[in-house]
Amino acid sequence: MKLLIVGGGGREHAIAWKLAQSPRVERIYCSPGNAGISSIADCVPIQADDIAGLCAFAKESAIDFAVIGPEGPLAAGIVDEFEKLGIRVFGPNKKCAQLEASKAFTKQFLDRHCIPTARYQEFTDIKEAILAIGIYGWPMVIKADGLAAGKGVIIAEDQAAALSAIKELMSDKVFGSAGDKLVIEEFLTGIEASVLCFVDGKTIVPMASAQDYKKIYDGDKGPNTGGMGAYSPSLIFNEELENTIRNLILNPTLAGFMADGLDFKGVLFVGLMIGKDGPKVIEFNVRFGDPETQSVLMRLDTDLLDIMESVVDGRLADQQIKWSEDRTICVVLAAGGYPGEYSKGDIITGLDAMPEEILIFHAGTQFAEDDPETKIAGPEAVGNFSLAAAKCSPPSRSSVVTAGGRVLGVCARAKTSEEASAKVYQAIDKITFNGVQYRKDIGIIVE
Ligand SMILES: Nc1ncnc2c1ncn2[C@@H]1O[C@H](COP(=O)(O)OP(=O)(O)O)[C@@H](O)[C@H]1O
Ligand SMILES: [Mg+2]
Repeated sequence: MKLLIVGGGGREHAIAWKLAQSPRVERIYCSPGNAGISSIADCVPIQADDIAGLCAFAKESAIDFAVIGPEGPLAAGIVDEFEKLGIRVFGPNKKCAQLEASKAFTKQFLDRHCIPTARYQEFTDIKEAILAIGIYGWPMVIKADGLAAGKGVIIAEDQAAALSAIKELMSDKVFGSAGDKLVIEEFLTGIEASVLCFVDGKTIVPMASAQDYKKIYDGDKGPNTGGMGAYSPSLIFNEELENTIRNLILNPTLAGFMADGLDFKGVLFVGLMIGKDGPKVIEFNVRFGDPETQSVLMRLDTDLLDIMESVVDGRLADQQIKWSEDRTICVVLAAGGYPGEYSKGDIITGLDAMPEEILIFHAGTQFAEDDPETKIAGPEAVGNFSLAAAKCSPPSRSSVVTAGGRVLGVCARAKTSEEASAKVYQAIDKITFNGVQYRKDIGIIVE
């Protein structure tokens, strides 16, 4: 089969790596991909939000199966467009993608189906939103309704902060039309956790648990990021909590999808706050999370293509899914300054000669020759990936340089979490680029 993976981050690298192990995969294309992905897939320079371009490419190249990584194209309806062309595609359609693309849509869904979540109100009028400042006490949670690349939620500590957040979102439009509507919520306390699930419209199957770290600094300090690391299985989950989540959240969510005519096919990410009065839904995402995916897929012992096809065909209930007992950990190396302004084009060294139990999933990387700003070039491998397994032509060898805020996800797999953690940080010691920053407490519970 010929596959197309849409996206170009660490998540897509992990998906490509896992799919390349399937004996039925002949060739993988990835658009746009990155330097690391090019060792297992043919990277096609079409951006993930260029739906017309992706449709044309998929048709020309006779793609048999497509996998959509990021939320942008899902929200814009890429799945509906691929389906119109008769191309099988893994991911929810536009209607279902509203569960990520509109926070108000999700809050209404949760309330309608009595699924535990924070109390909320939605506003399209700035004057009314200002009058609602403090209605649930402090701190106050203010959310842009639409997609805002993980930056549309403000936790305001006081009146002045709330007022300026509302103005920025609704009148300055810092996130464009995403701020046309606001959701104001009660602040929840507890431990944050998430559950990734496969959903085929009638069956929901949680994956192995994982814990991710959103804040830039150790001890969960500093601003939010796209995610600075993850480990699996999560130390927060146990059987009792998993059962509670299944009964109070996952099953009613699936029943809600069916009642509302949402034929959800793909991955549902359920963001939770586990507090004294049980788990509550913070949000849904309609795709694999990054970097939880890296830590989870490394433990998957079943062919991912089999699972994805069973989701698309509505056969998930009959699909076996096996997880390894091993522990995995993924630590993100980010560019200096991230999540604020950061530099690009810095040469990355130390990526070659990694032991077998280390995998490096690339996020913001590219080859020096593709980056006009880089002056020096030299030979450098792109990590520990088997080209033979991938059945694709090897990339041209040249320097790999930074091209994004989150640059690499260094991942290890071992029998115990202590071993996995030791291995990952030993591997990180060998990798350098200008300004590199990473968290040293991934794998440790932070409360
Ligand atoms: N009601 C809430 N109470 C406490 N913290 C919240 C609440 N809603 C969101 N947060 C915090 O803000 C973060 C981002 O909110 P979320 O709804 O997940 O938006 P997004 O991921 O789209 O930015 C959450 O991970 C959580 O830490
Ligand atoms: Mg979130």
